[in-house]
Formats: sequence, C-alpha cells, structure tokens
Amino acid sequence: MDSPNQPKSLSTNLFYLFLLLSTNLLTLFISSTFYSSSSCSLNPISSTTTFTKRRSPSTTDSDGTGNPDTPQATIDLPSEFLAFSSGQVLPLGFNTNFDSDTFYPPVGQACTRFPDELSRFMSYKVNGSCPDDELFAQKLLLKGCEPLPRRRCRPAAQPDYVEPYPLPTSLWTTPPNSSVVWTAYTCKVYTCLINRGKTQKGFDDCKDCFDLHGREQNRWASRQTIEGSLDFTIDEVLATKKPGTIRIGLDIGGGVATFAVRMRERNITIITTSMNLNGPFNNFIASRGVMPLYISISQRLPFFDNTLDIVHSMHVLSNWIPSTLLHFLMFDIYRVLRPGGLFWLDHFFCVEDQFLDVYKPLIESIGFIKLKWVVGKKLDRGAELREMYLSALLEKPLKNSW
Ligand SMILES: *[C@@H]1O[C@H](CO)[C@@H](O)[C@H](O)[C@H]1NC(C)=O
Ligand SMILES: *[C@@H]1O[C@H](CO)[C@@H](O)[C@H](O)[C@H]1NC(C)=O
Ligand SMILES: *[C@@H]1O[C@H](CO)[C@@H](O)[C@H](O)[C@H]1NC(C)=O
Repeated sequence: MDSPNQPKSLSTNLFYLFLLLSTNLLTLFISSTFYSSSSCSLNPISSTTTFTKRRSPSTTDSDGTGNPDTPQATIDLPSEFLAFSSGQVLPLGFNTNFDSDTFYPPVGQACTRFPDELSRFMSYKVNGSCPDDELFAQKLLLKGCEPLPRRRCRPAAQPDYVEPYPLPTSLWTTPPNSSVVWTAYTCKVYTCLINRGKTQKGFDDCKDCFDLHGREQNRWASRQTIEGSLDFTIDEVLATKKPGTIRIGLDIGGGVATFAVRMRERNITIITTSMNLNGPFNNFIASRGVMPLYISISQRLPFFDNTLDIVHSMHVLSNWIPSTLLHFLMFDIYRVLRPGGLFWLDHFFCVEDQFLDVYKPLIESIGFIKLKWVVGKKLDRGAELREMYLSALLEKPLKNSW
C-alpha cells in the first residue's frame, strides 16, 4: 500500500458529490428500486427489491376501483406527457419488428411518481419556446425520470452564440462565455468557473476542472510510471494491448472530458457521460470538440453488447452508490466491453472494511481478468478513517467471456 498525496479538494469533491447525489438519487433508489438498509451491503434480489406500483398521493383512489393493478391514474398527468408517452398507433399497421401495431415511447419509470414536477416540465407552448428550466429538468431526471419525455418546443439558447474554435485549438482552449446558457449555474462566466477552486467556499463537483491550465494539464499524461501508484498513465494502459486495438470507448462521469481529449490526441474516440452539476459540463465538453453524453449512472448504457474497446471511470464509482446498483452497473460495463476490452477503474473510493466485505468480492464477481490492482490509503482526512482508493485495470476475457 502506498500513500498517494491526494489534494484536499478531492475529499471535498467526493463529499459534495455524495451530498448532492444522495439527496437526488438515493431517495429515488431507496424509495423505488432498491430496498436497502445499508448502502454498503450487497443485497441479493429478494421480494423487497420488487418494484411496487405506488400511486402518488394526489392520485390515490382517484380511479375508485381499488384495483392495485390499475395503471397510475392518468387524470393528473399533463396532456403533453400523455401525448408523448401514450400508445401511438403505427400508421402502416402491424409491424413485425415491434411485434405490435402500437408503439409506446420510453420515459423513465419514475416520471409519474412526481406528477407536480412532471406537470411543470411538460407545461410549455407547443411549437414555441421551452421554458429556461435546465436545473429543474436535471433534478427531475436525477430523481429517476430518465429518459425525460421529449418536448415539442425549442430549448433556451444563447442570444449571441458564436461558432466554436476549430480543432485542435478547441481541445485546450476555454470556450467563449456565449456558448452557454448560464441560468442554471452559480457562475455566470467561465472566468468564475476557472477561479472557483481558489476563490469560492463550499463544495462543487469537479470544482477545479474548468481550469485547463491547472491540474487538468497533467492528468494521466506523465510518461513515467511510478510503481505501485494509483495514477496509471494512458500510455501504460494502452501498452497492455496490441498497438491500435483500443479505438473506441466510454468515460463514465468524465468531468470536463480531459480523458477523452488525451485519447483523441492518440486517435482514440471516447464518449464522456456527465451531468451538469452546477457547471455547464456538457457544453464545455462539446466546445472542446469531444462527445458529451447526458445520462446519469442509473441508466443502462446505450451501447450494444461486446462493442467498446475501453471503459474508464474516475472518482465517480464509489461507496456513495447503493451496492446493488453498483453491481448492475459493473455488469453493464462488462456487457458493453468487447472481449479483450479494458475497464479502467480509476480511484474507486471506499473505507477499508467496506472494501474487504463488499467491494472487492463485488468487483471480483463480474468476471474480469486483473491486469493491475493497486490499493492505496487516502490519508488527507486522517488515517483513523481508514479511507482508501482502488485503481484497477481489468480485462474482459477474450475467450469464454460469457
Ligand atoms: C404545432 O404544429 C403542428 C404542425 O404544424 C400543428 O399541427 C399543431 O396544431 C401546432 N400546435 C399548436 C398548439 O400550435
Ligand atoms: C468571459 O467573461 C469574463 C467577464 O466578463 C471575461 O473576463 C472573460 O474574458 C470572458 N471569457 C471569454 C473566453 O470570453
Ligand atoms: C492520428 O491520425 C492522424 C491522421 O491519420 C495521423 O497523422 C497521426 O499521426 C495520428 N496520431 C497518432 C498519435 O497516432
């Protein structure tokens, strides 16, 4: 075990991430899908994990039938929501691909649990401008209304948008302030986001990430590998495979997508998932010229089985995630990786006892081969807390992965 010299802001970031997401996500998980008395026990499937259809208070008994199988009362649901999500009859009749003559557009199963929020989200002028409601929409999404229903209106946009910087300049240049609709964020210009690590108190996810000349500049970049370090470098990871065979992949919760930018510089295409937690992460990633994907960690990855060469995730997969969800998520990563593909689990955070009791067996149960496995203590808040990181490079077996 080594002692990585972790900057303080990391724990504060994690703590904030925990706070923020726990309020949004844990409520959902505990109330709907995951019955969990302790977030660090791996609950096997049991009757308590079964989804039970619960009517929202405002619709209770409104159908008057007392039949528990009656679909949630539709009375309170906004008309645009029903217009989108109700069965749509296919104009050409029965379609063998759908095995039906009716199509049901998908929305998150939790959308109808929040009829008031849903009503607000779906209230707009059809064919007109949408409300400027990014923050509100994201909250609804993080509560489990994911995917959000589509809307028939035009999103709030920047009044004085300018074309992005050309590649490769865009990769390492702060985009223009006018590339963002700032309503949802505390900061209203990029200068504020760049300086907030130094000037602002309080917690923010990826607080110093927008400063492309700060820590971002060196992440994963060093040529030399320090034996036993939690910080693997991109080049050492790529060197575990035949040159050129890592071409496409995914970075889960990738901040401002510096990982994707570095991979792009090596001609590797990475899609970066991110929420916009008090920062225009998706705009920033797109402005840099790499691909953002606006999905939370709860959603099934939108890739087909056995297709990606690499999946990376730093600091996001940690002990704030209910372990049953984490188990599903890890299997989803395994699913989308091709045989021989790499899963780079970068700085997985937890406490030593949790690691031995829960996370080590959980990760080992998925079926990966361990190429690298480094456990390091996290000491910045005191050794007595027994906080730790795991950095691992895992490979889906080339043969017999099923
Ligand atoms: C929106 O546009 C569609 C297509 O032209 C039209 O059928 C519909 O009536 C319009 N709705 C409203 C509320 O303007
Ligand atoms: C954004 O606005 C701030 C404050 O007006 C300004 O100092 C900064 O130069 C602007 N940034 C860009 C990239 O235009
Ligand atoms: C990336 O691809 C371009 C165009 O094919 C090539 O010129 C360049 O050398 C490649 N860069 C790397 C790091 O492989």
